[in-house]
Parts: sequence; C-alpha cells; structure tokens
Amino acid sequence: SSTNEIKIEGKTYKTDEWMNTPSTILAAISRRLHLQPDHPIALTRKLIESRFPEFKTHNELFPVVSVKQNFDSLGFPADHVGRSRTDTYYLNKETVLRTHTSAHQADTFRAKESAGYLISADVYRRDAIDRSHYPVFHQMEGARTWDQDAGAEAGKPLEQVIWDDVAKIPKHDIDVEDPNPVHHPERNPLQPGHSPAEVEAMAAHLKRSLEDVVVAIFDAARKATDPSSSTPPEPLKMRWVEAYFPFTSPSWELEVFWQGDWLEVLGCGIVQQSILTNADVTTRKGWAFGIGLERIAMLLYSIPDIRLFWSTDSRFLSQFSSTTPMQRFVPFSKYPACIKDVSFWLRSSSSAAGGNSSPLSPTGGFHENDVMEIAREICGDVVEDVRLVDEFTHPKTGRKSLCYRTNYRSLERTLTNEETNELHEKFRQQLVSKLGVELR
Ligand code: PHE
Repeated sequence: SSTNEIKIEGKTYKTDEWMNTPSTILAAISRRLHLQPDHPIALTRKLIESRFPEFKTHNELFPVVSVKQNFDSLGFPADHVGRSRTDTYYLNKETVLRTHTSAHQADTFRAKESAGYLISADVYRRDAIDRSHYPVFHQMEGARTWDQDAGAEAGKPLEQVIWDDVAKIPKHDIDVEDPNPVHHPERNPLQPGHSPAEVEAMAAHLKRSLEDVVVAIFDAARKATDPSSSTPPEPLKMRWVEAYFPFTSPSWELEVFWQGDWLEVLGCGIVQQSILTNADVTTRKGWAFGIGLERIAMLLYSIPDIRLFWSTDSRFLSQFSSTTPMQRFVPFSKYPACIKDVSFWLRSSSSAAGGNSSPLSPTGGFHENDVMEIAREICGDVVEDVRLVDEFTHPKTGRKSLCYRTNYRSLERTLTNEETNELHEKFRQQLVSKLGVELR
C-alpha cells in the first residue's frame, strides 16, 4: 500500500490505510479556543482553574498522541469500541488525535511535578451532529495524588492526612444526592491494596472538590446579568451516579439538574494503581476527573448551539470579556432552518463482499458516523443536526433502507434556497460515492 506524509504545525507524520482524518478537522488544531483571550471556553477554563490554586496547569499539550497514550496506557481492552475508526480520528495505525485529555495522564504522573495537576486541551471524536455535539471539543483533566508514606511521616494514618485536606475545601449548602455506597464489590470495586478507609477519604476529597467547581460555576451564572429577561434562576441540584472507566475504580459521574433534565457534566474516579506504577510513581495513590468545557460554558452563558464557539463573528465574540461582569449570551438572531430528507438503500451484504468497498467503511459495514462526517465535510457549520427518522427492511429482499433528516441553518445569515439545494445534492452524491448506498 502507498505511504504518504502529512505535516501538522511543522511535525511530519506518515499516513497509512488507517488515516481517516479530514483536512477540515486538522484545520481546527490551530484554533486553540481554550487559549484565546476572552473566548468563553478560555474563561470557563480559568474559572475552574481558580478553584484549584495549588494545581499545576498544562494548557499546550499537542493533540497528536500515540494509541499507547490514548488507550493502552489507560487499560482500554483491545476490542473497546472507542478504538475503532468509526469513533476515532487516526493518522496511522499507531497515531491518533487524542479523544480525551486522559491521554496525558501517564506522562503527567511520570513527570512528578506536583501533587495536583490540570490539563486543558482540544479533543477529537467522530460523533453525531446536533446542537451539543461537534467533532472537536475541549476537556479539562484534573488529578490529585498522595504519597503512601505521607501518613507515617505525619504520625497518623494516610486517611487522616486526606481528611485534613478535605477540611480545607470551601463548604457549600447545596443539596447533593449520593445514594450509592462509596464502593461496591461488583459494580464499583475497590482496587487490591486500597483500604476502604483511604478510598472513602479520597472519594470525599474528589467529590467535595468537584461539587465546589459546580457551585462556583452556578454562582457565576446566577450573578450574570441578563438584560433581556427577568426569569429567576432555578435552584441548583446535583447528584452522583456510579460509572465505569477502564482507568479508574471506583468511578462516578456528576449530574446537574438543568432545564428539566439530569445532565452529565463530568466523569471521575480513583486512579487505577497500574497507571501510577507504570508511570514510576508506585508509592502514590489518588483521584482523577475529566470535564467537558463546552457543556459547562453552555450552562454558564446560556449558549444554545455548540457551533457558536467556532464562530469568528464579532456579534458572538464581543459578548465575552474577562474584565467586565459576566453576562448571559444574547442570541443575535435565529435565521430560518431548511429541512431536507435523504433516503437510501444500504449495500446488501452480498454486494459488500464484492470489490465495492467504500473508503470510509472498508469492511463494507455501515456506520452512522460516516454519514455525519460527510455532512460536516460538505456543509461545515451550516448543518445544525442530522438524524435518522426512518428505518425499513424490505420484507422480500431483506434490504435495509434508511432516511436521514438534515437541518440546514447558518448561525450568521439566511441561506438561499439554491445554496441549500446545492449542498443537499452534494451530500446525496457523496453518500453514494463514499458509502456505496443506493438513493431511493
Ligand atoms: N476521559 C474520560 C472521558 O472522556 C473522563 C474521565 C477522566 C473519567 C478522568 C475518569 C477520570 O469520558
């Protein structure tokens, strides 16, 4: 097979048959929204950082990482779906655009620079298209560890050292639901070598630290002036739920009640000891979390569509400032949407086995993320959402037909009919040429 090279910000990478990263995605690397002064993603990052004054921050880690960093070092099983080319952007078999900031956990632990660290960065995932999903977004990773011998040195058990640190976290009076036991033998087990008392103390430190972050965010949002409305803010409600990550145990998610729904805002847990051991910090134990910055910023400023973060329109950017009091976002206009459907037959399994394999799904399989990527490639930020509205299997031939509904809408102007028709026609044609489907 042919070998090619690509250059990303001066670094050269060999590409191979695993390469599935479009140039439009590579173009996002240079944007670094979390570092743009007065950008809402950067302001959100700073607000969270201010709650961890003693943590070392890393905000410029490069997004191209090895499969080892992104998956292997974190204990992802070989067959985990996250590794598949339908979910992850590859440059070659060994190299990906990081799918989460956890890709830097092992290296940051190995550097032994501080007991606590925060990593903010852009992350990349092939995913659905709607107002809260975009293939590039931003996360913040945080971790805090304690040395196994810290207790002995202080003349008390380690858990007491940790509880003393818990007492230093600012108190809040928000009601938090936390119905589950700190650990559970099947659902959320302790790791070998971790005592229940230590894990209870670390879990309390983790949960109180993150509750403090959410309370700070909601206090800021509540103080934000809203020139256009006088609706009183809803009272803040949070709950902890059990979770699973290959790299923490026990694990949890924090959810916030927002406009009638429980919204997951972060994942966290007690770091797998094997990660610390492999990073050559055998005597430390502690916690880690990962939080999505877009989701928090959307809550904080009432931003209704994730595409807005990528806008360079001054009607968006000029509404955010680090020097003036925080304001809720005032949408500058909602331009009309244009809805169009496309229906097609999937390749039947027999034709897929033939020489008709598509570049996006070389195995002949169909994955919805490929439809999403084609829509993104053709329409850029002019597509608001794409969703499956009908699915049908022909009773005689057994062939499957799908219908996708695409919502075209610009955030910045009214689209013309001709323009939308042209985009939609290109979208239909690329479904045929790239996925090998048959239009109905
Ligand atoms: N990396 C996880 C994600 O992207 C979040 C996480 C980070 C969970 C650290 C636990 C510990 O979903």
